[in-house]
Amino acid sequence: MLKIGLLGAGRIGRVHAINIAGHARSQLVAVSDVNEDAAHSLADAYGAKANSSDAILADASIDAVLIATSTDTHSDLIEKATAAGKAVLCEKPVDLSLERAQQCLDAVDKTGVPVMIGFNRRFDPNFSAIRASIAAGEIGKPELLSITSFDPAPPPVAYVKVSGGLFRDMMIHDFDMANFLMGNMPKTVHAAGTSIVDPEIGKVGDVDTAVVTLTYADGRIAVIKNSRRAVYGYDQRVEILGSEGLLSAGNVLENTVSKATKQGVTSAKPEFFFLERYMRAYAAEWDAFVAAILDGAAIPVSLKDGVDALSLAEAATRSAKSGQPVSLA
Ligand SMILES: NC(=O)c1ccc[n+]([C@@H]2O[C@H](COP(=O)([O-])OP(=O)(O)OC[C@H]3O[C@@H](n4cnc5c(N)ncnc54)[C@H](O)[C@@H]3O)[C@@H](O)[C@H]2O)c1
Repeated sequence: MLKIGLLGAGRIGRVHAINIAGHARSQLVAVSDVNEDAAHSLADAYGAKANSSDAILADASIDAVLIATSTDTHSDLIEKATAAGKAVLCEKPVDLSLERAQQCLDAVDKTGVPVMIGFNRRFDPNFSAIRASIAAGEIGKPELLSITSFDPAPPPVAYVKVSGGLFRDMMIHDFDMANFLMGNMPKTVHAAGTSIVDPEIGKVGDVDTAVVTLTYADGRIAVIKNSRRAVYGYDQRVEILGSEGLLSAGNVLENTVSKATKQGVTSAKPEFFFLERYMRAYAAEWDAFVAAILDGAAIPVSLKDGVDALSLAEAATRSAKSGQPVSLA
């Protein structure tokens, strides 16, 4: 049984608490949050203790921590947790700064303590089936990847200001998906971005609509499209064309009813947002972490994967500003 301390009792921390407490081989024993009320209310719901992050990291009976705090705390907490010998599952992104994330990776490597990054989409049943089919050679050599990722509505500008920008906060998931499905990093990143949905987002220096083209050393191409607004719901699709065929994963709909009348054929909307669409993925992600720690299985999403995705986000941010493609070292 893995004894777990949860750091961060916000939106995603509450989802992780459900999975930690619901898993047969993990137990939620402590929760920390700088907002003590949030920590107490979540801890009480699961019979856990509310405590400070430092006290949780000093508690020898705790085996691992799940870091679900605000992004600007991730690298510091990963370093402190691994120095204390706690295995870590940390939410994306690793940091807002690539340089800081790289320092964190170097520090963690010295400890040998396992760290997993929460790229939950790898555990979505649709996307993991696409990856398995590619790995089995069923579409030959993948040549052209297209990822569509639209949120239902933009976040408040106050969130945008501290988010690190669309490429680090939102498209980071799609950069990781590209790395997951294409199997290696691209050689160039070319981005275009605009704040057409909410000009206030533009005023604070961010974009809400963006397209990125990734080109690979062997000639393959990936295209990622992001928007902070899709009025019909959370639009999450992947298509990959290979030398021997095409794989595509569509949206998960709120129900499977199709209505056919004289006016046309309609279906339900896509599930509203990540808390609906990816519930199964968060549970599978947690299960994979527990198996890695207790059974010695490989960590399925490494800290290096987190740094790689962040380096694509940083390159895209620069490319969108300059209008020029950015080559990766
Ligand atoms: N994988 C995903 O699908 C997904 C979805 C949402 C958020 N996230 C990531 O999870 C993180 C949290 O996002 P959220 O939406 O839950 O935000 P949130 O603001 O709802 O929750 C963050 C919580 O962390 C607490 N906190 C901040 N600094 C802390 C510290 N030093 N110690 C303890 N607690 C601290 C805050 O008080 C807050 O309660 C972000 O990095 C975000 O990018 C990932």
